[in-house]
Amino acid sequence: MNHYGPSAGLSALREKIAERYQEKSPATSRDNVIVTGSGSEGLMTVALTLYDPGDEVLVPNPGFVLYSPHARLVGASPVPYSLTAKRRYLPDLDELERLVTPRTRALVVNSPSNPTGAVLSKSDVDRLSAFADRHGLTIVSDEVYEEIVYGPRATSFWGRSDRVVVVNSFSKTLAMTGWRIGFLVAPRALAPELNKVHYHILACPSTPVQVAVLAGLTHGDGTLRAMVREFRARRSLVTRLLTRTPGLEVVPPAGAFYVFPRFSWNRSSQEVATALLRRGLITTPGDAFGSLGASHLRLSFAASRENLRRGLAILQQYATEEASAE
Ligand SMILES: Cc1ncc(COP(=O)(O)O)c(C=O)c1O
Repeated sequence: MNHYGPSAGLSALREKIAERYQEKSPATSRDNVIVTGSGSEGLMTVALTLYDPGDEVLVPNPGFVLYSPHARLVGASPVPYSLTAKRRYLPDLDELERLVTPRTRALVVNSPSNPTGAVLSKSDVDRLSAFADRHGLTIVSDEVYEEIVYGPRATSFWGRSDRVVVVNSFSKTLAMTGWRIGFLVAPRALAPELNKVHYHILACPSTPVQVAVLAGLTHGDGTLRAMVREFRARRSLVTRLLTRTPGLEVVPPAGAFYVFPRFSWNRSSQEVATALLRRGLITTPGDAFGSLGASHLRLSFAASRENLRRGLAILQQYATEEASAE
């Protein structure tokens, strides 16, 4: 297992992934699956394969940092759609209808979301699928946090429309971010086209890492459940402490391991993030995820409860000083 393997991945792994998607769409087979060198590579492969210069691509604002640059790199234009605290960071279909043009090629969705933690309900998924079908758009569905949810299971877009490409990864669900391994699930006619581009990026995914993933998928369910239980406890801790912090508005995340508080201080998110960094707390400025991330911070709770308490104490101290300065 030290050698090159098939470009689309080891058959045994593709089969195993396909089995997991058969409950969403029974006809799914390994022909629908391409093992990639990460979710990030999967997203780039999709952009290079699907988007042409001059195309428009609907992307979430705020949304994960790769969607817009990938569209731009291939000469397409990202068209941001709004996710706001008022709508609990869920898309507004009326706005999407206004943004769509004859040049729109694809709709990028991400549930559970990085950075907001929002999760689309089954009816949201159905409505977005119908919208995409109505306009002939391909749905690019980034589902890398699918297993990390605190309410009902997340609904996949796979099987809900004929034009869906699912981007997924083992980085989060098997906690192996440094190993660089993910996969795409795509319609039978599109998969070979994606595979050609993927071949030119990577030749083939790492063989030993695929063997590790197979072991993880065979034995990892109990570990995943324990990990999500711990994330659930951290989510409660973080949400409770943030709700008590002056100047912050918090929508409790329904999935992923991020929380995206909105602050009322008259400062840029970069200024706040830098001030917190100097005091020892790492956050990501919200506007790194798009213009509507202004006045937000993204906090990750992929850290021990002890460190989360220490970090949130720093944030509370900062917030108290901001409140007394106003
Ligand atoms: C929403 C989302 N998509 C994709 C990725 C990429 O994951 P990876 O390249 O590690 O598979 C990430 C990583 O943070 C993410 O948050």
